[in-house]
Amino acid sequence: MLAEPKLQYRMGSLCMRSLWLLALLSATLAAYDICNAKPKDLALEPMCIYRSPDTAQDAEEPDKEPEKIPESTNPRVWELSKANSRFALSLFKHLAKEKTGGSNIFMSPISISTAFAMTKLGACNTTLEQIMNVFEFDTIKEKTSDQVHFFFAKLNCRLYRKKDKTTELVSANRLFGDKSIAFNETYQNISEVVYGAKLMPLNFKENPEQSRMVINEWISNKTENRIKDTLPAGALDTNTVLVLVNTIYFKGQWKSKFDKNDVFTEDFLLSDSDSCKVTMMYQETKFRYGRFTDDKVQVLELPYRGEDITMVLILPLRGTPLSEVEEGLDLKKLTGWLDAMKEITVAVHIPRFRVEDNFSLKDKLQALGLVDLFSPLQASLPGMVADDENGLFISEAFHKAFLEVNEEGSEAAAATAVVAVGRSINLNRERFIANRPFLLLIRESTINTMVFMGRVANPCPEN
Ligand SMILES: *[C@@H]1O[C@H](CO)[C@@H](O)[C@H](O)[C@H]1NC(C)=O
Ligand SMILES: *[C@@H]1O[C@H](CO)[C@@H](O)[C@H](O)[C@H]1NC(C)=O
Ligand SMILES: *[C@@H]1O[C@H](CO)[C@@H](O)[C@H](O)[C@H]1NC(C)=O
Ligand SMILES: *[C@@H]1O[C@H](CO)[C@@H](O)[C@H](O)[C@H]1NC(C)=O
Ligand SMILES: *[C@@H]1O[C@H](CO)[C@@H](O)[C@H](O)[C@H]1NC(C)=O
Repeated sequence: MLAEPKLQYRMGSLCMRSLWLLALLSATLAAYDICNAKPKDLALEPMCIYRSPDTAQDAEEPDKEPEKIPESTNPRVWELSKANSRFALSLFKHLAKEKTGGSNIFMSPISISTAFAMTKLGACNTTLEQIMNVFEFDTIKEKTSDQVHFFFAKLNCRLYRKKDKTTELVSANRLFGDKSIAFNETYQNISEVVYGAKLMPLNFKENPEQSRMVINEWISNKTENRIKDTLPAGALDTNTVLVLVNTIYFKGQWKSKFDKNDVFTEDFLLSDSDSCKVTMMYQETKFRYGRFTDDKVQVLELPYRGEDITMVLILPLRGTPLSEVEEGLDLKKLTGWLDAMKEITVAVHIPRFRVEDNFSLKDKLQALGLVDLFSPLQASLPGMVADDENGLFISEAFHKAFLEVNEEGSEAAAATAVVAVGRSINLNRERFIANRPFLLLIRESTINTMVFMGRVANPCPEN
């Protein structure tokens, strides 16, 4: 007699406890004193701990000589950075396959990994295991999963350290929880120390629409109003209990700017049969550059002021479709190019452009194997809530990102330019002419963390 209503209640609460997560592009810097902490200083005790099978540790790249780790870098932080890069490439390849070749792609893989690492803190069982696998955290040579958070904090210290007054790379995290729910205090505390993510109570149950606007406004605030309306209308409802937000915002000036007088209006080849007009910027300067004929690409690295952050452009050789390059891309190939590039004088032509992208991460991550986290029945996130009820799951995850590139760097606004300049071009020069679809990444170059990654297939202003 009693069993039945209880079961119904249980099912009801299972369905109601949806957790929202979103990751996106935008902004902030928390001054972690964690930057100087040692692992033992920080009581990182997530509810569940994942142990990598021992075999996973050395199986990877067996016959390679020990790799050189960048100076003054914790080996685990370096491995975490590589794990993030592997995830970045597999997500990117998935997106590239899904979207038509003509569409732009832009995202911040580090922002996505960070947001999901925050959920990992409260995860158990197969939910935890899948997070470890999909985000490649299980490739870190550490017996247990709990320290991943510590290394994430260290990686953040490294990434968001102020390098140059003109370069801003800032990230902000925040949890928004329904005020009726008691969240686990240990979870909140660790999350705040490691990810700088304070919980802000909101009234989802009574006013989901207003809560949505508060969150969107917070995101907009943190991204200098660049990222608006991240959560679309109707994205939150009265069942929402938790929204995780991770934002990252970058603004940089080129170390070597493009001259505003050296711009041309030129054709950008969208495909074999189609083109559009772009404003092409031009400069001839020493850059790190490589032409890799076996892989059919030219790779160019443009540093921002402060030098640690760079933009890497990957351009297929003429006649090679970008999709071919995308399909063959992996971390080994990419780091191979980056290591082999040499500083030489290159005549660089790249379009001025702006790309914006937004997508739901849910189906993409499910396709990569992150299944249980999104399942009302399978998800196990007991570490997040104070009562031991285990019905919490993630109902959606959104990502939104934008990039603007111009003569100055990646700052917005540009004077109406145009008009070609007569200039004698040395025909023996290496030339990098990005007048057809290319890939780009913005990375922290000392530790090779991919902050942003994208495909520029159509840089032409809307017409
Ligand atoms: C909160 O989580 C910690 C583990 O991270 C656990 O030890 C503690 O019992 C939880 N607290 C409550 C009130 O559930
Ligand atoms: C993990 O799974 C086991 C068996 O599937 C279950 O007994 C246990 O309660 C789960 N633990 C948590 C914390 O969800
Ligand atoms: C969480 O942090 C607060 C403030 O720093 C502290 O008072 C509280 O004891 C902490 N709670 C747990 C469970 O660690
Ligand atoms: C946005 O920023 C302004 C000024 O910095 C502040 O007054 C406002 O409260 C902020 N809004 C949110 C939602 O954080
Ligand atoms: C994402 O962009 C598309 C247009 O490309 C738009 O229709 C959609 O509403 C946007 N979604 C979100 C979540 O902003």
